[in-house]
Amino acid sequence: MDNKAKERKSIYVSNEEMARQQQFIEEIKQLNYQRELQTGKKKLYYLATLGCQMNEHDSEKLAGMLSEMGYAESDNMNNSDLIIYNTCCVRENAEQKVYGHLGPLKHLKKENPDLVIAICGCMMQQPEVVEHIKKVYRHVDLIFGTHNLYKFPELLFRAVGSEETVIDVWDSEGQIAENVAIERKDGVKAWVTVMYGCNNFCSYCIVPYVRGRERSRDLDSILNEVTMLGRQGFKEITLLGQNVNSYGKDLGDGTNFAKLIREVDKVPGIERIRFMTSHPKDLSDELIYAMRDCKKVCEHLHLPFQAGSTSILEKMNRKYSKEDYLRLVEKVKENIPDIALTTDIIVGFPGETEEDFSDTLDIVEKVRFDNAYTFLYSKRTGTPAAKMENQVPEDVKKERFQRLLELQNRISKEINDTFLGKTVEVLVEGLSKNNDRVYTGRTRENKIVNFEGNKDMVGKLVNVRIDTVKTWSLEGSVI
Ligand code: SAH
Ligand code: SF4
Ligand code: F3S
Repeated sequence: MDNKAKERKSIYVSNEEMARQQQFIEEIKQLNYQRELQTGKKKLYYLATLGCQMNEHDSEKLAGMLSEMGYAESDNMNNSDLIIYNTCCVRENAEQKVYGHLGPLKHLKKENPDLVIAICGCMMQQPEVVEHIKKVYRHVDLIFGTHNLYKFPELLFRAVGSEETVIDVWDSEGQIAENVAIERKDGVKAWVTVMYGCNNFCSYCIVPYVRGRERSRDLDSILNEVTMLGRQGFKEITLLGQNVNSYGKDLGDGTNFAKLIREVDKVPGIERIRFMTSHPKDLSDELIYAMRDCKKVCEHLHLPFQAGSTSILEKMNRKYSKEDYLRLVEKVKENIPDIALTTDIIVGFPGETEEDFSDTLDIVEKVRFDNAYTFLYSKRTGTPAAKMENQVPEDVKKERFQRLLELQNRISKEINDTFLGKTVEVLVEGLSKNNDRVYTGRTRENKIVNFEGNKDMVGKLVNVRIDTVKTWSLEGSVI
């Protein structure tokens, strides 16, 4: 093994440590089993997840560990023995939501002193939040962060036997844990983390502070995971990373995201590949060609532009101009003509003038995104933008936001209208939420399609002719 490989090895949590965690899993399993013998009931957990796919996927890991410990999931917190909130702090309202949930748990804890209340995720990576929870929400039993998720069995074991709140939050990223049990929510689509953290430090964003620096998993570990998913019958995978297309830069051996997707494209059983989130500065020609060439890579690209004005982009530390972004989109469209584009946009970044905002509207008009996730700028303590002058008043932000939304909704609907009468390939995910005959799935462009189907179609690709079009979804009949 050469030096580089040795160095790399140390970024993983050791097998010994993982084995130690497995012992805690066994200990809790024994305790739970004893309880089950006495009461005839399994211990239940209630897990609520806020935030992005990264958090959703972390929750799948918590669920995996809990299932190994003999817990069963409940959708009712009132009958649960363990309540976990996996939190997000990207915007202030995400944090407010968590506090809103924590308060009422006090009386549940009073009724059932054995109840364990745990709270984890990005929000806990901020020391002032942990202090606040310690002071105000004393009924919380366990607090942990994003970097030590794999230690959950040990922390839970300690929390079950302790009067004190168990707190374990690491301020730096530590090591990557491979082989944590994962209980995937869906049987058709699976998330696969390819890299952790972010080095970009966009001036408004808290993610690099709470998720640490970029760390890529080895290509082989990723391919092994995807191969296993293919064997288990998963049909679609989404490669996940805060800045997914910078995958491999830290490996220092020439591995990059384009090479990764060319390899993943060869894995048997997998029919569709998606990835998110891509940063425009890392969308290389090599990656565009790989997307074009790889049959399984879907014709969909989520490419946040955040703001249209070049001077705002500079203040945001995004490292591209309005023109760079438009040129990039042109290149993508030339190479992949039927690509669906989606984006993230922030309205009301400090100093944003009406003229700056008109550049945002201009990009939306020119690119014609299939969909856009639009956010009001939210001040995050500790980020450079929080200290910038000329914070935009709330009412101005809201009025701009409304205009942007109207424009985007019109474009989304116009694009969807072009699907009318067309036949699309849909990967069937399951029953739609509100109806027991209507099934739902997505096109390669990531459009939601609802249609009358049956359970044998789940996990299969079916052709659907579109006969009704809405702003957010399509409806049709299987042909
Ligand atoms: N790594 C991804 C996702 C980051 S968070 C990316 O770079 O695209 C998802 C979105 O939240 C961001 O794209 C951005 O549009 C938005 N966001 C981040 N910080 C924000 C803030 N302080 N206020 C409002 N929106 C924010
Ligand atoms: Fe935040 Fe920017 Fe990193 Fe995305 S790329 S997570 S917006 S710092
Ligand atoms: Fe939120 Fe953390 Fe994701 S802050 S957006 S859950 S990385």
